[in-house]
Amino acid sequence: MRVPTFTEMCREELTLCGIGEGSTVAVLSQGKQRSEYVDAFLAAAEQLGAIGFNVNLPRSASSLDGEQGAWEVGETPLAGNRPAIEALKQVDLVIDTVFLLFSKEQLEIQESGTRVLLCIEPLEHIRAMAPSARLRERVEAGAELLGSAQTLRFTNAAGSDVTYKLGTYPVITQYGYTDTPGRWDHWPSGFLFTGGADDGVDGTVVIAPGDIVFPFKSYVQTPIELTIAAGRIERIAGGLDADLLREYMASFKDPNAYGISHIGWGMLETAQWSILAYDRRGMGMHGRSFYGNVLFSTGPNGELGGPNETLCHVDVPMRNCTLYLDDEPIVVDGDIVVDALKADELARA
Ligand SMILES: [Fe+2]
Repeated sequence: MRVPTFTEMCREELTLCGIGEGSTVAVLSQGKQRSEYVDAFLAAAEQLGAIGFNVNLPRSASSLDGEQGAWEVGETPLAGNRPAIEALKQVDLVIDTVFLLFSKEQLEIQESGTRVLLCIEPLEHIRAMAPSARLRERVEAGAELLGSAQTLRFTNAAGSDVTYKLGTYPVITQYGYTDTPGRWDHWPSGFLFTGGADDGVDGTVVIAPGDIVFPFKSYVQTPIELTIAAGRIERIAGGLDADLLREYMASFKDPNAYGISHIGWGMLETAQWSILAYDRRGMGMHGRSFYGNVLFSTGPNGELGGPNETLCHVDVPMRNCTLYLDDEPIVVDGDIVVDALKADELARA
């Protein structure tokens, strides 16, 4: 079977994003970085009859670039560039190849009704994890369940048992494309999440061997036991991996680093848990999206509209967990058990 070109993939992606005759698309880039992404999106937009252009910024010295695994989110190269911001607010869809996430510039662009699609992952990862209307349907079915639950609890055989009080924060979906005005998404991805009440997360999380810690981009070898009370990590216990995480978090010298961030689960059957064993490129969308992972995270909750600000953000996709919403099992031992959320068997084979 012939492998589709990047332009063909972008055409499919833009179609999912509702781009067609007369739509407007801006591709944001910096310097010469990801120029092949710019070319492919602009060619695809043109083939669809859309009006496309490139907003190219000077190469910024700061590394917000997912490739380097940097998480310290600061000034984007768009900050203070009023004409560029205004141009981006004029279009239907902005393709972000720079990584604006969490910036006030991105929020302003979204508030104008412009939708934003982040696309910075390696081409092979984008190709492996193609989105679909079916994935969206499943993720949105999950969002409905998550959005109407009062509590979320998850456990694993290593000893995790933690409960989140829900209802304070919205549910955020990621299914890899966006045709909704003002909505952000990331191509490729497939998961959903919300946050617990600020003082409403209590229990124990034991990160088990094989679970992934971002930004380390590595698999835990020895269990890490986190004791959580009233939405804060009180204790980090265990062996070498616990020492690494404890020192990493302490290095921020920031009490807010110990807050609890988003919680949810992965739904993308084409995402691969094992990829980091041989391919550490990109910011880790395989790891965050893989089917049935419970995505536990610590640090900021500003993304959800919460007050906890910190530069220390740790995402932990965990395997083989059991997750309940109001005591109803949604994921059991790492497998999704609600029919409306399950991947089609053929796709998973
Ligand atoms: Fe995160």
